[in-house]
Amino acid sequence: MTEREAGKERLYPSILGSMATRYYYLRQLRQKIEEVIQQFVANNSTKLVLADYGCGNKPYEPLIAPYVEKYVGIDLPENPIADIHISPVGEIALSQNCLDVVLSTQVLEHVVNPSLYLSEAQRVLKKDGLLILSTHGYWMFHPDPTDFWRWTSTGLQKIVFEAGFEIVYFKGIIGRSAMGLQLFQDGLLFKIPKFLRPVLALLMQPLIIFFDKTTAQETRNKDACTFILVAKKK
Ligand SMILES: C[S@@+](CC[C@H](N)C(=O)[O-])C[C@H]1O[C@@H](n2cnc3c(N)ncnc32)[C@H](O)[C@@H]1O
Repeated sequence: MTEREAGKERLYPSILGSMATRYYYLRQLRQKIEEVIQQFVANNSTKLVLADYGCGNKPYEPLIAPYVEKYVGIDLPENPIADIHISPVGEIALSQNCLDVVLSTQVLEHVVNPSLYLSEAQRVLKKDGLLILSTHGYWMFHPDPTDFWRWTSTGLQKIVFEAGFEIVYFKGIIGRSAMGLQLFQDGLLFKIPKFLRPVLALLMQPLIIFFDKTTAQETRNKDACTFILVAKKK
């Protein structure tokens, strides 16, 4: 599978595909990213410049590219499809106040120094520029290439605020009971033979969906698998 194909499978996972054990989570994440794009980006009349900061295989480029004039992928030097590589000390080779939007999906938990990462995002954004960021609350260990942090709703809001942002949107994705089942599934996943993993996903993903549907959004906003926020540069 090429990097681009892997990105597409992440964007539109199939319950019978390679991302079956992440089926519900990835669908929910995509839907929330779509909601945020429609609410904060799609209706903007100016020509926007966006950086996908920690772009990986750029899974969300197809969702946001139609609404921006320029899409730039930023990542570690190891990523061959990034347009800009961050320096060894974590700096972005862009001047200050040059971007309208910074997109950061599932990166913050992987960065060595989250405060530095956020302050670089703040530096390159124009005043009132938007940071769209998602990162994990509860999730299993998943190095890419490292894995350092998990966030509580208040801890995440604190570190983003302290980097010079005003949070204008904040939602949790997948609440406690469903997330407990997701972690239970992932706990079993590596104990069973590979050929049985799709069967486990077929049993567990509907249960995860059922329990998440019984959770109020307000509860999810406090305690969740993933948080997504939009923050404005102050
Ligand atoms: C789990 S992947 C997420 C990739 C993509 N954003 C997505 O949603 O699929 C984490 C990404 O963060 C990148 N990364 C880790 N530390 C970083 C840093 N300090 N600055 C920028 N990117 C970083 C990794 O190289 C990797 O591509």
